[in-house]
Amino acid sequence: MTNDVTTKNARTTPAHTTNAHTADPKPILVLGSTGKTGRRVLARLRHAGHEVRAGSRRGPTRFDWTDESTWEPALKGVGAAYLVDSQTEDAADSVRAFAQLASARGVERLVLLSANDWVVPEGEEKLPSERAVRESGVAWTIVKPAWFAQNFSEDPYYLGQLRDGEFVSSTGTGREAFVDADDIADVAVAALTEDGHAGETYRLAGPRLLSLDEVVEEIARATDRDIVHRAVPPEDFVAVGARQGLPEGYVNLLDDLYSWIREERFAQLADGVRRALGREPRDFADYVRTTAATGVWHA
Ligand SMILES: NC(=O)c1ccc[n+]([C@@H]2O[C@H](COP(=O)([O-])OP(=O)(O)OC[C@H]3O[C@@H](n4cnc5c(N)ncnc54)[C@H](OP(=O)(O)O)[C@@H]3O)[C@@H](O)[C@H]2O)c1
Repeated sequence: MTNDVTTKNARTTPAHTTNAHTADPKPILVLGSTGKTGRRVLARLRHAGHEVRAGSRRGPTRFDWTDESTWEPALKGVGAAYLVDSQTEDAADSVRAFAQLASARGVERLVLLSANDWVVPEGEEKLPSERAVRESGVAWTIVKPAWFAQNFSEDPYYLGQLRDGEFVSSTGTGREAFVDADDIADVAVAALTEDGHAGETYRLAGPRLLSLDEVVEEIARATDRDIVHRAVPPEDFVAVGARQGLPEGYVNLLDDLYSWIREERFAQLADGVRRALGREPRDFADYVRTTAATGVWHA
């Protein structure tokens, strides 16, 4: 099943380019370069021989969405930029101002990491940041992934629970199309470096819908460990999270995210990986197998 709003533009062949794999002489700015997707985008670009600029508050190129004085130096001479917004309420305003600055400085491609329609009122998309990029005047591509599989190995809270042998959620039997961050990075890199992706919104999902019971079971099996998914009633989750010592804002965010999985609000497969790359998305089982081999799920 797909509900991809861009299906009308669907290709049967990947969006290829004449200059794919040819390093752009201008640097590529990667924001969120210490995060789950930014790290991977950066590594791929470096591997392909591109000059990169790794931006974030902790990155070698200091970039802070809340400090505009860091924007201009990060953008200097840049040909393309990968944008990961700040996830704050005013994120879209910053993205708009930054995209306009990028346009004024001659940046040729912007690739925005968006999301399914989280943290915005019912009926809207994570649209404000997307709109800001679409209206920037720079050739844009929007990447709209489902939940990242890598949350289970790179988010400290999720990882900690799996190491402890009990993953608590209020997702019930709801399912999600967990997508591999490696696929997200592959799509982002294609959009940053190749022709043929401008004006595309790629919804990215894994090839299967999985419940948290199934996720935890796959991880337990691959690691040969006893790990359980404790599905708590929705009305109990906030209290459970508080007992786990989570900050109130984070518990409330998780409570929302889990309710959306429970309701299967975004339980849809999508063809973005195939359209962008001409291949199928990586299966969750592949992610689990390679991640288990690193030993990360053993405390
Ligand atoms: N995780 C998911 O399942 C998922 C699914 C769909 C979409 N998304 C989207 O993906 C994005 C990243 O989410 P994530 O939770 O996966 O994040 P993450 O891996 O923790 O990455 C967040 C990145 O943003 C940087 N950052 C945070 N605040 C910043 C600021 N004020 N200025 C500059 N850089 C800042 C962080 O670097 P520093 O700390 O070094 O600054 C980090 O590199 C979000 O827009 C989210 O909506 C996530």
